[in-house]
Amino acid sequence: MSEQDVDDVAFLTEDSNTGLHKRSIYEHNAAAVCSQKKALFIASLVFAILFAISLIIAFAGPQNDCPCAGERPANLELDDDDYNGEPVATNGEVFPWNSVRLPTFAHPTRYNITIHPNLTTLDVRGQVTIEFYVDKETNFIVFHSKNLTIIEKMVQDRKGHRLKIAKLLEYRKHQQLYLELEESKFRKRGNYSVHLRFATKLSSELEGLYLSNYVTADGEKRLSELFLATTHFEPTYARTAFPCFDEPQFKAKFKVSIFRDRFHIALCNMPVVNTEDAGFYMGTGLLRDDFQESVEMSTYLVAFVVCDFKRISALTKQNITVSVYAPEAMLPLARYAVDTAARTMDYFESFFGVEYPLPKQDLIAIPDFASGAMENWGLITYRETSILYDPAETSTSAHEWVAVVVAHELAHQWFGNLVTMKWWNDLWLNEGAASFFEYKGVNHISPEWSMMDQFILYKTQPALDLDVLASSHPISVPVKDATEIEAIFDTISYNKGASILYMLEGFLGEDIFRRGLNDYLESHAFANADTNDFWAVFTKHSNQTFDVKAIMDTWTQQMGYPVIVISRENNVVTASQKRLLIAPSTNDSELLLPKSPFNYKWYVPLSYFTDKEPDVIHNVWMNLTDVSFEVASEVEYVKCNVNQSGFYRVTYSEEMWTSIITTLLNNHTKFNPADRANLIDDAFALCEAGELNATIPLELSLYLLNETDYVPWATALGYLHSWKARLSESSAFKRYNIFLKRLLTPIAKNVGWTDEGPHLKKLLRIVILNSAVKIKLEDVAKPARELFDNWMLKGKHIPPNIRDVVYGAGIKFGGEDEWNYCWKTYLKTQIPSEKQVMLHALGATSDPWLLQRYLLRSLDRETVRPQDVQAVISSVASNPDGQYLAWRHLKAFWPQIQALFGNGSHTIGGLISTVTSRFFTDYDHREVSEFFKNIDVGSGQRALEQSLETIKFNVHWVKQNADMVDEWLTNFLKNRKS
Ligand code: BES
Ligand code: ZN
Repeated sequence: MSEQDVDDVAFLTEDSNTGLHKRSIYEHNAAAVCSQKKALFIASLVFAILFAISLIIAFAGPQNDCPCAGERPANLELDDDDYNGEPVATNGEVFPWNSVRLPTFAHPTRYNITIHPNLTTLDVRGQVTIEFYVDKETNFIVFHSKNLTIIEKMVQDRKGHRLKIAKLLEYRKHQQLYLELEESKFRKRGNYSVHLRFATKLSSELEGLYLSNYVTADGEKRLSELFLATTHFEPTYARTAFPCFDEPQFKAKFKVSIFRDRFHIALCNMPVVNTEDAGFYMGTGLLRDDFQESVEMSTYLVAFVVCDFKRISALTKQNITVSVYAPEAMLPLARYAVDTAARTMDYFESFFGVEYPLPKQDLIAIPDFASGAMENWGLITYRETSILYDPAETSTSAHEWVAVVVAHELAHQWFGNLVTMKWWNDLWLNEGAASFFEYKGVNHISPEWSMMDQFILYKTQPALDLDVLASSHPISVPVKDATEIEAIFDTISYNKGASILYMLEGFLGEDIFRRGLNDYLESHAFANADTNDFWAVFTKHSNQTFDVKAIMDTWTQQMGYPVIVISRENNVVTASQKRLLIAPSTNDSELLLPKSPFNYKWYVPLSYFTDKEPDVIHNVWMNLTDVSFEVASEVEYVKCNVNQSGFYRVTYSEEMWTSIITTLLNNHTKFNPADRANLIDDAFALCEAGELNATIPLELSLYLLNETDYVPWATALGYLHSWKARLSESSAFKRYNIFLKRLLTPIAKNVGWTDEGPHLKKLLRIVILNSAVKIKLEDVAKPARELFDNWMLKGKHIPPNIRDVVYGAGIKFGGEDEWNYCWKTYLKTQIPSEKQVMLHALGATSDPWLLQRYLLRSLDRETVRPQDVQAVISSVASNPDGQYLAWRHLKAFWPQIQALFGNGSHTIGGLISTVTSRFFTDYDHREVSEFFKNIDVGSGQRALEQSLETIKFNVHWVKQNADMVDEWLTNFLKNRKS
């Protein structure tokens, strides 16, 4: 490419760091000779024209659609690049580096990045100077680049002498560049810099450096569309924005400069230290912001945004400014997040005993965002619903979500940013820790929310649910390429990771746990660590009382978990362990497959209490073995796994279950809410795994008639609804519905419709009323419909907490008018939480035509943002009247859907499982496996296997349990007529 191609940025192709001269590509030497007056006239004319053009450009928005829209990611199916197993570069030459991992001998130390994301043309021009050293003699280096056109390349030694480049090759499959020197070599322990100019386009997907937009109203309520450029680099997209050594262990300092026009601001990890007019040559009044050099950090944490947002701020105790950036009209909704963020930072600084090392912390609401949030150091990006909270419009559960996501990303500032996993196989060190500390953080800020009870509901229980599948995987799992890396951002890394940390804290005690964490963060600060480094600090701080590595390896290096079988003979209680598997296994040896280094035995910290001393918590260790302990003879029951803080399940002998159930029925408060939730969770799940008769969970569930706490109810409702779905073609179905109505009637009355009471009561109200509408409990459905009509026809306000249920009921029981009214509200409202609630409700209709139309509308990017497509499909799929339509839609539009998210994205796996995992017939199983037989689902592969296994299990469950459930229901309804 020639220099003329780089026509919009006056880059300093040579800068002071490299010792070269500053030079603008716009310099020209032509002399102009004319009169002063004429010159003045011409100058004013030129200036006026330029000013007009700059205004048009600034306000016009992008002129063309990004040509890469909907294109399949370049890393897909490029195997034909290879020749006889040898990788072939884009120019046809053999690519001499044949590993998806970079060589380890070259180490970047500093990046100097200058970049101009042009929000009008969508062009991105940039240059990067990477300073690096090599620890052995070599004539080549390899680094990452994806979808970048390299315009200029140069290598220099420490003194600024140029080294001749023999070749620069690109291998798309591994997203790598190979740079070889011509005559000289990089000397052992030598320092060098590679300088590259590059060009690309703003991405239209939600990764790399991408374009986002939003609509705003001016004083006269005229709407205009505004654009912003933002980044999302984790795990492997930094390489699409600038050439880099894009692996987490290659930490370096980043010095960034960004060109922008004067109507925008630019944000980056660090604060701006200098802003300069880019000069007359730029024509469009560009400015350049130079940002302070960062600390040592991984590439995936780099972030920058060009937008026209405003901010509000708060200070931490250490005087760090915490700001939330959002479109001006949204700023009032950011107050909660900014205050919570500042207080949570204070808490983490004190709990971890390590100060936040950057001079500022920005949080920003991005209108198009693939996941919930991203922890970029000092510039955390959030989906709008993860950060904006309007007390008058947002529900309690959405409010809690904001607190949780804010805390999660702040926890990453220590776990992930300060100390980073060496390689992605230890992703759980990042995500498991953040998922644990998000709850501890919120628990500190809002103790009345009982976050540690909710922890088991939202973290432990879903993890146990998934990890019971044979297609699960160990927490520590080898990963190589981008697709495999993306796939481990899953329930195992997040939830099982968090749950085993809860268990670890439980047996170490908070004090030792905290000292270990502090040691870990201090000794690996600005560097990397692996799982062994993590365990080592706890062994040390427990004074070798525990061999933490030996204990915890059994939880991270083998998948699954044990069920502890409790039996009792007089005073002696025996606990034995075996792996729990849900799959219909024909023989016990399947429990040991695939092979595990520990033969599926665990070090289990078994906690328990008895009815005689309910406040005394005992602990016994099961060291890969079974164990016996004594209890007093007058003890009636033993409850193990106190607060469900251990990652295992417990079953009891039949008499012991009976005694527990009797206690629950007589006085359930003898167990605290977490233990009650645990008993429900274990009883139902163990029935599903074939360990318990269905009558046990059913009998147990009768105590729910007296239950008024959120966590046990939410636990139970998950099972009660999924049993209902599985029974929908069995003779028990109608009776089961009557049973559900009986269970829910008293609590529905208890919670009522008034949006009042403590936090957990509000959460309870939401789930109970929603369930009642789902099962068409008339006492709830009728008032819900009335509330809807009053809203639609008379504009009557609905309190935010009951909107979900009211909209849902209006749509479920209403027709096209109701649906259209909600759709219009969805299009009109600017409140993110309201949009989210509407999208969910719109899938509740029973009219197949409306459902189908809704699915089709989700394909139009103009009406449904790609980030929300999954919400639409899953709202239809979770509606019994819509699940097969959703499946048909997924099949019919698979190429479009896959192109929308890209095969590397973890959304694909989520979509497959929300659409298919409720299926419960052999026919459905065949359909799903046939459809995907010849399709490469990329990082959704494991989710697909898990969905197929779940369907198989559902089929098996119906065969095993439907009759027994029916028999129990028949008896129940006979004996308890009401
Ligand atoms: N690091 C992740 C963001 C991410 C997710 C990057 C997937 C790449 C792939 C971030 O910290 C995160 O975990 N976000 C969660 C929200 C959190 C509250 C569980 C998310 O986006 O779902
Ligand atoms: Zn995270």
